[in-house]
Amino acid sequence: MANDTKQLDALLKEERTFEPNPEFTQRANFNDPAIYENAARDPEAYWDEQAQNITWFKPYDKVLEWDAPHAKWFLGGKLNAAYNCVDRHRQGPRKNKAALIWEGEKGGSKVFTYDMLGREVDRAAHMLTNLGVKKGDRVAVYLPMVPELPITLLACAKIGAIHTVVFAGFSAKSLRDRIEDANAKLLVTADASWRRGKQVPLKAFADEAVENTSVEKVLVVKAVGEEASISLTEGRDLLWDEEIERASREPFPAAEMDAEDILYLLYTSGTTGKPKGIVHTTGGYLVGVNTSMRSVFDIKDEDVYFCTADIGWVTGHSYIVYGPLSAGATVVMYEGAPDYPDRDRFWDIIEKYGVTIFYTAPTSIRTFMKWGTSYVEKHDLSTLRLLGTVGEPINPEAWMWFHKYVGKEKTPIVDTWWQTETGCAMIAPLPGLTKTKPGSATKPLPGIIADVVDDDGQPVEKGGGNLVIKYPWPSMLRTVWGDDERFRNTYFGKFPGWYLPGDAAHKDEDGYIWILGRIDDVINVSGHRIGTMEVESALVSHPAVAEAAVIGRSDDVKGQAITAFVILKEGYEPSNAMTAELKETVAEQIGKLARPEEIYYTAELPKTRSAKIMRRLLRDIAEGRVLGDTTTLTDPSVIEELKKQYQHKEE
Ligand code: WT7
Repeated sequence: MANDTKQLDALLKEERTFEPNPEFTQRANFNDPAIYENAARDPEAYWDEQAQNITWFKPYDKVLEWDAPHAKWFLGGKLNAAYNCVDRHRQGPRKNKAALIWEGEKGGSKVFTYDMLGREVDRAAHMLTNLGVKKGDRVAVYLPMVPELPITLLACAKIGAIHTVVFAGFSAKSLRDRIEDANAKLLVTADASWRRGKQVPLKAFADEAVENTSVEKVLVVKAVGEEASISLTEGRDLLWDEEIERASREPFPAAEMDAEDILYLLYTSGTTGKPKGIVHTTGGYLVGVNTSMRSVFDIKDEDVYFCTADIGWVTGHSYIVYGPLSAGATVVMYEGAPDYPDRDRFWDIIEKYGVTIFYTAPTSIRTFMKWGTSYVEKHDLSTLRLLGTVGEPINPEAWMWFHKYVGKEKTPIVDTWWQTETGCAMIAPLPGLTKTKPGSATKPLPGIIADVVDDDGQPVEKGGGNLVIKYPWPSMLRTVWGDDERFRNTYFGKFPGWYLPGDAAHKDEDGYIWILGRIDDVINVSGHRIGTMEVESALVSHPAVAEAAVIGRSDDVKGQAITAFVILKEGYEPSNAMTAELKETVAEQIGKLARPEEIYYTAELPKTRSAKIMRRLLRDIAEGRVLGDTTTLTDPSVIEELKKQYQHKEE
């Protein structure tokens, strides 16, 4: 839940509105206001029409089969995602158009036209085939933002192999867990990666991760090169540069995939247990992401489109790789940090390439605000015509700042609500049609039937409740890899037949949806989902820790920050060294992104009489609020002790 009540109040009092610009509307891909109603009346007909933008080797016989909670889309259809993203564009006027513009953190850049990208992908597909990768095999990918990353994904898609990308900021242990769950046979990784001019030793992490797993071969991209020192294990490790030399230069025949064949797995955190392998299939996913590129991002052939996400997350899968490339767009992909070498790097990239569409995260915008306007004002951003945000609720001040200093009060902003599970944007404005309100993702997109309901499933007229999606959509997850039971319970357990995203939302008098945050114990740190359970398990794995409770407290820049409450075992004392060690344990086990911001030590955790940890109280403490009702606590003195620590810290 959005836990800062003051912020929430401010959000719900937001009254500014922005009508679409008539010039924009006139030229927009989606500019017929009847589209919402028509799609709502017959979602299948809408998706059937959208699916005509995909090239099918064999047309589908049926649009949808819905046996809740299992959906099948475009039944009987045959297609290939890589063919749709690359090859089909090589046959027409886009052949020599820039597909991918890659900008390295250190400044170098590479441009791949659709034709060049096609040759790279085909050669990589030959290489992976030589290494034994076949249709249906899982390939784990642990790479920084280098061109080999999208090339690997597309090569897998061309073969029909299932990729599972693990964000390069995750630890060796997180990588290992995902490799094991997916039973991957190949790992594609890099020697190291650059982050703010420093090296991150990816190969060393990979070595630790693959030992005694299903991984037979490790393919190593030299992302850093000479300066990185790595060791290669004979018979297991191979260098990309050498293997690609051996691979054929002939075109690689695209595998004919069934619409329902799996395209990829992507792991995401939930309330309990291990991260879930979200399953996306070929036909529906591609129709979903391709449609939203045209509707939400209004993509045109002249556009230069820049999404700042990492391909390690779903945003990068859908809106750097499959969405824009399936639409034949020019995509800018940036390797590094926004403040390297200086804080104007994004603005510099926009100016350098003439970016027209810019998609980023609210946490980045809040960081830019903190840095001040001089960086953004130093650059000519006049090519921009559309801005987008994703990952977490955007506070109205950040929306206004983006509007004023980046959009120069001219460009529409699309706040896009969606999830790893939904595959594509679900609640977002159509920039040529939808009036926007800073802080609201506005309305469900055409073809998406979503609503806010109370705990009994009754629609809320105006006010707060559970966000639900009442009808299937093409790019929805099909299941959780290896655990269909978990899929049913997590997403369809509360309201049978309706998909439950796990977000709380508010509906206003215009029917606009304001996403408030997670209902479950998932923390959203800078737009990244982290399960409280995962962090708690990492903490209790340390020999000094008896018990741990983790919460997300509101943070001005990150949205939420991780706070941990720890009970030490007998014989251990709180100290700065202990705090540093515990934080490091979490970073080692999960990744730096999960490192707690602060750790409080306590002799006991506040629990209800039924032994449930009262996270609400912990949040109150972490945010320095006057405490709410503590009457159900077993031992109210626990709170007094914790409060003292918080106050001590503030002094
Ligand atoms: C969760 C999904 C979708 C790509 C990035 C995150 C939150 C996402 C918004 C938004 C308010 C948002 C939700 C959601 N979220 N976009 N525009 N407004 N909240 O993907 O890691 O699967 O996380 O991010 O809480 O459930 P993810």
